[in-house]
Amino acid sequence: MIKNDTALVERLAKPSSQAGSLDDLPADVREDFPLASLREAFPALQQKNEQGGALVYFDSAASALKPREVIDTVADFYATDYANVHRSAHRLAERATERYEGAREAVRRHLGAGEVHEIVFTRNATEAINLVANSWGDLLARDCMRSPKLAVSMMEHHSNLVPWQRLAARCDAELLVIPINDVGEIDMEAYEQILKTNDVALVALAHISNVLGTKNPIAELVACAHRHDALVLVDGSQAVPHTSVDVKALDADFYVFTGHKVFAPSGIGVLYGKEKLLEAMPPWQYGGEMVERVSFQQASWNKLPWKFEAGTPPIAQAVGLDAALTFVRRIGVPAIEAYEQRLGTSMRQRLQKIEGLTLLGEARLRAPIFSFALDGLNAFDLAALLDKQGFCCRAGHHCAEPLVRHYGLSGCLRVALAFYNSEQECEAFVEALAKARAMLA
Ligand code: ALA
Repeated sequence: MIKNDTALVERLAKPSSQAGSLDDLPADVREDFPLASLREAFPALQQKNEQGGALVYFDSAASALKPREVIDTVADFYATDYANVHRSAHRLAERATERYEGAREAVRRHLGAGEVHEIVFTRNATEAINLVANSWGDLLARDCMRSPKLAVSMMEHHSNLVPWQRLAARCDAELLVIPINDVGEIDMEAYEQILKTNDVALVALAHISNVLGTKNPIAELVACAHRHDALVLVDGSQAVPHTSVDVKALDADFYVFTGHKVFAPSGIGVLYGKEKLLEAMPPWQYGGEMVERVSFQQASWNKLPWKFEAGTPPIAQAVGLDAALTFVRRIGVPAIEAYEQRLGTSMRQRLQKIEGLTLLGEARLRAPIFSFALDGLNAFDLAALLDKQGFCCRAGHHCAEPLVRHYGLSGCLRVALAFYNSEQECEAFVEALAKARAMLA
């Protein structure tokens, strides 16, 4: 029995709405997906709000909740194995190094990368993108013969836009914007045309949009870019929590994601890069660990991946990421994806029925992330009133201001689901939204 869901429904449902019981879940969701036990694995979901009702977390695109075993793994690691890595010969240093490098191997496996040294740990996805924009950007800036262009899609998060703006300014290069169509998908014809008619050195693309939920056809986009000699960096921050990723099958040149959105601690990010590219790229931060030999006048660089990991890395965070990926793999990414597809479809249908609600993006392939405007109401006011009813949602431009402005808005409300969310929560949300709307009317 999902006790928290039941409590929530009891608290919020009006007498006319009796559809919140577990029996109302479609049979396949009820039987195939271990929702109740998964929810129990997340301590944050066991909290009550001020009225004694359940807390509903619909902000997983901003940061996902952490399962108990990730929290415990990090705490145990600090208690038993923690020391700095790669430096000392004592037992704790050896154990910590083993755990840290073990996490790298877990990430390699999860992304389907060929070599473990193609995995670089960073603090987050933003830092991974900045690493490429700086280091690969050095190579681009040195290539004086070329007057290259860079391209980003219209749906990029600021983290996959601003670093490229800076690189474009540094190289005196134009930054081209790939348009999206009416349903919030990349306009494939315009994309190919941009690549055909410009010398694009690199395209930066989100795998899944953090605002629209659109899942981009990355393999197709990469193949097209490669036909026109452009490299592709994929921001997988919203994809890794929701779908299987195989960087070799996608043929992505660079693929980045952040740990905190995939149930790991904050402070750990990942850059995957093809070996040949990473080998050619210079370090971008300097100090301990990233060096091989150092004299007072000069230094030589460590091998991959450590050449890109200056200073003490996020050791416990990497161990936590390993635990989070283990947790996800035990559930099974295909099972997560199938459950979320069903949940997302039903949430979308519920939202589409609300008069005055405008969804941003109606892509066919998508993750359960929905942004919308309601009757011109202020999204922050709605979010505050929803919070009072126990719903955690995000309002604003979601770090994708140009995209939200493209829809003629300065902000919108976002509901971002994860596999620990339920049908009952979605149903209760619609009722809570109606209450919030009535209060603002
Ligand atoms: N990128 C995060 C979001 O979309 C912060 O909310």
